[in-house]
Amino acid sequence: MKLIIHDLSEREFTKLELSQDDDMRIISDDGTIKSCVGCFGCWIKTPGRCVLNDKYNNMGELLARCDELVVISRLVYGSYSPFIRNVLDRSIPYLLPYFTVINGEIHHQPRYENRLDLTVHFYGDDMEEREKETAKQLVIANAVNLYANVKDVNFHKLAQKRVEEYNCSGECENKPSSKMKIALLNGSPKQGASTSGWMIGKLEEIIGDECDVSSFNLSRTEIEDGIYDDLCNMDALVISCPLYVDAIPSHLFRILVELEKRMNKLRLVEPQTENIHIDELLEEDAESSRPRKKDTLVYAILHNGFYEGSQNYIALDIIKNWCNRSGVTYAQGIAQGSGEVVGFVETVPLGHGPLKNLGLALYELAENIKASSLGEDKLFNPNLPRLMWRLMASHSFWQPQARKNGLKIRDIRNRHGYMK
Ligand SMILES: Cc1cc2nc3c(=O)[nH]c(=O)nc-3n(C[C@H](O)[C@H](O)[C@H](O)COP(=O)(O)O)c2cc1C
Repeated sequence: MKLIIHDLSEREFTKLELSQDDDMRIISDDGTIKSCVGCFGCWIKTPGRCVLNDKYNNMGELLARCDELVVISRLVYGSYSPFIRNVLDRSIPYLLPYFTVINGEIHHQPRYENRLDLTVHFYGDDMEEREKETAKQLVIANAVNLYANVKDVNFHKLAQKRVEEYNCSGECENKPSSKMKIALLNGSPKQGASTSGWMIGKLEEIIGDECDVSSFNLSRTEIEDGIYDDLCNMDALVISCPLYVDAIPSHLFRILVELEKRMNKLRLVEPQTENIHIDELLEEDAESSRPRKKDTLVYAILHNGFYEGSQNYIALDIIKNWCNRSGVTYAQGIAQGSGEVVGFVETVPLGHGPLKNLGLALYELAENIKASSLGEDKLFNPNLPRLMWRLMASHSFWQPQARKNGLKIRDIRNRHGYMK
């Protein structure tokens, strides 16, 4: 079967005049897709099928029936568009929770025997080279995770209304504050405890009360206008989020797209820098034609399920590309492998045992944030042997969780979706 996943409008898609046959399925955006909530129910409750109740919950089974996958997506910061990202996030039931090693790195084992040929068509009207490069890396990384063979990655120039006009209230006033204003963004979609939240909490403790720190839980895409206004008005933004299919989780990605629009709009209508005329600002930033007001520094704390923190490099590039589009300065990123490990070692003090590397990185990051300094990216593994991590993850995490849900260990490998 050939599966096409696209984010075009019906009219745009029809214009492609693709020859349709019975062995083809098309997945498009009808506005009803739910964001992944990071519950792993598709592995430990209904193995092979997402627990969310919408028409995108059978992605695992669909991919299993397919030998050719074609993705058509707007290029957004070197990533797929939020809708395509969303579909991919909902596709992890295609894989097993168990691990294997590919090219020296940890990945998931396949649930099914089929192998996909993957073709990706990115489109846009002002695609930057750096974004194209990130996108190519992303497709290659996805292909490794999805056991796919990359047939082609294409970029098409397409006249597009890139963003709808943001109806800016212009109410994002700069409240006078002597302290530096820092927003800590928890970008996990989980409603309860999350590694992202835990890391934000640790960072907040280290920063202390020298700065005016606000924490924002961005577990849902719908956030109030007031929050966007606050975020546009910070000295530093710290984005803490998990890696989802080698990129940024789709719910957070939608928020970043919206935030970019608002930041640009505010920059255009409300230059805050005193004594500088907007024309000068425009000239100064002529290359991207985005005038800046005060500079916001962006720091990232990423973490992923697999052992190697290095697997976060594409997501960091996506954040860098987002900064470039938003007219803010990327300051530093840190990325920890085996993010879930922190749940097992909560009693271990930061900077010790498995949390040694994370401690060093978080302390350095906090210093840079407080000093408004830039720093080098740090991507690292937890301070424990890979074999120990692998045994912990499989035997102390997936299997007990599945048992709690009344499953037998063999059910985890279910190949046909959940049928009861
Ligand atoms: C939909 C989905 C996709 C994921 N994709 C990846 C991935 O590509 N690579 C990886 O190492 N971990 C991946 N993970 C694991 C998460 O990054 C990891 O569990 C993270 O620590 C969760 O953080 P949180 O508790 O803050 O949500 C994925 C998890 C989910 C739910």
